[in-house]
Amino acid sequence: MIFTYISHVLLLCIVFSHSTAYVESFIPLPRYSVSSILVDSKLYFFGGWGKNPDESEGCQNSVFYLDILSSFDTSDNISWIDLTSIAALPVETCWQVSAHDSQKNSIYILEGLMVNNSSNQVNVSDTLIYSFDTKIQRWSKPLISGIAPPRRMELQISQDSSNIYMFGGLSKPLTSSQNITWFSDMNILDIKNLSWLIVTSGLDLPPPQADFTATILNNGMIVYIGGRQVTNTYGSEISYKQMDKVASGTIPGVRTGHSAVLAMDGRIIVYGGKENEELLSPATPDLAVLDTASTPPFQWSTPKTFNAPPILAHHSATLIGNVMIIAFGNVTQQTTVAPGPTSKVYLLDISNKFNYTWITSFNTNTLNPTSTTDQYADSITTQPIQPSNNVISSNFALILGAAIGCTVSFIIIVVIAVLLLRRWLKYKQSSENKGLADISVSDN
Ligand SMILES: *[C@@H]1O[C@H](CO)[C@@H](O)[C@H](O)[C@H]1NC(C)=O
Ligand SMILES: *[C@@H]1O[C@H](CO)[C@@H](O)[C@H](O)[C@H]1NC(C)=O
Ligand SMILES: *[C@@H]1O[C@H](CO)[C@@H](O)[C@H](O)[C@H]1NC(C)=O
Ligand SMILES: *[C@@H]1O[C@H](CO)[C@@H](O)[C@H](O)[C@H]1NC(C)=O
Ligand SMILES: *[C@@H]1O[C@H](CO)[C@@H](O)[C@H](O)[C@H]1NC(C)=O
Ligand SMILES: *[C@@H]1O[C@H](CO)[C@@H](O)[C@H](O)[C@H]1NC(C)=O
Ligand SMILES: *[C@@H]1O[C@H](CO)[C@@H](O)[C@H](O)[C@H]1NC(C)=O
Ligand SMILES: *[C@@H]1O[C@H](CO)[C@@H](O)[C@H](O)[C@H]1NC(C)=O
Repeated sequence: MIFTYISHVLLLCIVFSHSTAYVESFIPLPRYSVSSILVDSKLYFFGGWGKNPDESEGCQNSVFYLDILSSFDTSDNISWIDLTSIAALPVETCWQVSAHDSQKNSIYILEGLMVNNSSNQVNVSDTLIYSFDTKIQRWSKPLISGIAPPRRMELQISQDSSNIYMFGGLSKPLTSSQNITWFSDMNILDIKNLSWLIVTSGLDLPPPQADFTATILNNGMIVYIGGRQVTNTYGSEISYKQMDKVASGTIPGVRTGHSAVLAMDGRIIVYGGKENEELLSPATPDLAVLDTASTPPFQWSTPKTFNAPPILAHHSATLIGNVMIIAFGNVTQQTTVAPGPTSKVYLLDISNKFNYTWITSFNTNTLNPTSTTDQYADSITTQPIQPSNNVISSNFALILGAAIGCTVSFIIIVVIAVLLLRRWLKYKQSSENKGLADISVSDN
């Protein structure tokens, strides 16, 4: 009876200590063009471009997550959970996008630059998609039928529960003077059948473009915001896309490398990015909101905020409840922090549409999980979870229970162990004496 209890608690302790084992030690290296995706209560991050410990720069194979059931403060060390040691990406990856199929417990990592670290080559004609099983934490190469579109980067995808919609982007070999290829095709990956469908007719496709955001609304409409486009064959004429196409109101400035998340009430919150790719000057204003609740033209507004983070581009953005979590990215110009990749996290409270506030505490108690959607500067998906207060509190209870259980059972186990050890020592001593006696007997 007691042993059953002990073994159960022990199991829980192992699980508990396993899930917290990495907490103290892991701090991810600064990076941008990382992809992120929320699955259940885990906000996963994959790859990205950043500095290696030896100061060289490149695509990363890291996999780690943030447990959104734990509160954290952005000024403290955040409790990242590293999976790289047990489930690193099979290839070093950056500028990729990610998508999720909840029925197969799969996260798909596709496009971007995928570098085989033994050959140190990017194969642009290789259109491989890797799949990560979130339950068993294993990578695999799914078999995908149909004709795969050419590999690309600097794009966002959108998805619903059955399809991934991939439009535009560009292809830029890592090292070579080859011309950049810009895309204007719409490709659909059926995630149930795992097959590609290239849509060539029936769509009035806009010019080739990249560095935009793609947000799918609840009615299935995909809203592409910002980015840059080419208007001639070789891509030498590049223009920044104006923000007033199907929208009116206070029109924000042009931008690339920004992020967008969809709130439950139809607001698209657009943050960060650059207004010029060469000068790396920041988009103005840094925060813009597009209200898509009414029929087009949608309404822009440009709310004022205080304590804004530094100028960021190619960051990730995820909306959890009313908090937009902005992580990693490139600080493009000198502000209060040095330019270059960052590993910082910033939090924007979007609950009051007349007063957006940058906050420093992510607190599950004050989270109002009315909506959960996430989209990224470099990848995007629709929400896989709707955490409820019940889920949050029951998980807290479980963790608390496990913590108390672990402490109590640890004490019990120590007491039992001490008792057993004493008895064993006594027994050993007596049997050794007996053995010695036996030996001496047999010697004779
Ligand atoms: C964060 O971690 C670093 C490195 O482990 C440590 O030096 C620092 O004191 C920690 N800061 C806080 C606020 O815990
Ligand atoms: C990387 O390249 C090596 C040698 O070319 C090859 O054996 C290996 O399978 C490649 N790895 C992946 C994940 O493609
Ligand atoms: C490639 O990455 C693996 C881990 O993913 C690492 O063990 C190995 O040393 C790397 N190889 C090279 C040549 O960097
Ligand atoms: C690049 O990928 C294509 C398609 O998978 C493959 O046929 C080709 O052999 C690869 N090239 C190299 C150099 O690995
Ligand atoms: C690259 O672009 C230039 C014009 O900018 C053009 O003359 C050339 O043919 C292009 N090269 C290729 C391989 O497409
Ligand atoms: C998916 O596969 C099934 C069975 O192979 C087929 O009946 C169905 O039409 C496919 N769906 C699409 C959208 O291709
Ligand atoms: C990232 O920021 C650094 C510093 O300003 C800049 O040199 C670099 O070109 C930026 N990279 C991108 C992709 O914006
Ligand atoms: C906006 O919210 C912050 C924090 O809740 C508060 O301090 C500030 O006074 C508010 N500003 C306005 C204009 O309501």
